[in-house]
Amino acid sequence: MTIKNSSGEALQKRANDSIMPLYPHKHIALEKADGCYLYDTDGNKYLDCAAGIAVSSLGHNHPAFNKGVQEQLDKGFTMCVGSFAHEPKVNAAELLVNNCCSDKIFFCNSGAEAVEGALKLARAYAHYNRSEDCKEFIVFKNSFHGRTYGAVSGTQKSLSQPQFGPYLPGYHFADFNDLDSVKALITDKICGVLVEPVQGEGGLTAGTTEFLQGLQKLCNDNDIILISDEIQTGIGRMGTLFAHAHFDYEPDIITLAKGIGGGFPVGAFMAKDHVCSVFKPGDHGTTYGGNPLATNVVYHVVSEIVKPEFLARVREASAYFYDQLEALQAETGDAITAIKGQGLMIGLDTKFQIKELLAELLENGLVATQAGKNTLRLTPPLTISNTEIDEAIKKIKTVITSDNLPCLE
Ligand SMILES: Cc1ncc(COP(=O)(O)O)c(C=O)c1O
Repeated sequence: MTIKNSSGEALQKRANDSIMPLYPHKHIALEKADGCYLYDTDGNKYLDCAAGIAVSSLGHNHPAFNKGVQEQLDKGFTMCVGSFAHEPKVNAAELLVNNCCSDKIFFCNSGAEAVEGALKLARAYAHYNRSEDCKEFIVFKNSFHGRTYGAVSGTQKSLSQPQFGPYLPGYHFADFNDLDSVKALITDKICGVLVEPVQGEGGLTAGTTEFLQGLQKLCNDNDIILISDEIQTGIGRMGTLFAHAHFDYEPDIITLAKGIGGGFPVGAFMAKDHVCSVFKPGDHGTTYGGNPLATNVVYHVVSEIVKPEFLARVREASAYFYDQLEALQAETGDAITAIKGQGLMIGLDTKFQIKELLAELLENGLVATQAGKNTLRLTPPLTISNTEIDEAIKKIKTVITSDNLPCLE
């Protein structure tokens, strides 16, 4: 099956003419979505194994998400200044805090913004509790934390993008899953360690429990703030509400975005009281963060995900997906070289060139994304059924056994 979306080509041209060329537009133009499916402008159907890169946690057009939006629209109350309390913000805050090792939350608008807030909080904590020049961070090779300057300075890609420099000084890159390499970088100047429990953009490498727990101990022993960047891994994707719970460690600060809004742009960072008490009114802020519309969506989306039966189903779906992928790997010879990731954040290394592989999958009705140099990333809605997983496996099989794909050099 090769899908054609003829009307998409005109839209692709208009997009290329009017939008900065940072995302090469596909020749398929999407129009609507429902459940785990996206539909193009000709009505062709695509199984969404990207979910906006781990964003549409409940899939598309989910009643809980829609209720979060509609309820606020019906009240005509979508925005107010941050100093007013309102039910949606407090409800969302209590729900997240009551299900986490953190005591307080601050809502913002995106992942990068959440990371910025977390970095500022870690620095402020060290400034008041350790020394005024304790301002540096340990981060990891193959990391990704966002595109604002604080976040990108701790993202390995910045090292290969000198055109945007100078970056913030004082970021030290350790090897992921290697505690000794972290120990070797600890000095009196290190205020924080920033880590993704599973490296997303870097290629779906999961942290080991031993490493993540060891990191927590190392940070505790040295009064260093451990920041768990759960922007991609958090809010159900590991089969637990928070990713650190899956690996059983306790960070001092947690960053969230993506799945927390289920498709609505929102971010947040959470912290323990003894850490966030260094923040005084006016130290940090945002115009849109914590607005009634976004937080009402967060409240309804997270209320769905936090249900034990929902999280149990995510774990079941993940186990089923990995089982099917292992069977496919065994069946297709040397096509799949590694199966990586954790939960419903799955990576496949194959012998094929990733760009062509993704294009062929799309033409066969499957949307997925690239991570790292050559990893196929599957981050479907957390609501994906076993039948839909079977469909994804079938499409992957069709493409990798088709003799159409160029291999890696
Ligand atoms: C782990 C992690 N941190 C931060 C970000 C940045 O989030 P945003 O794109 O919302 O700024 C991302 C986005 O992919 C991410 O995966």
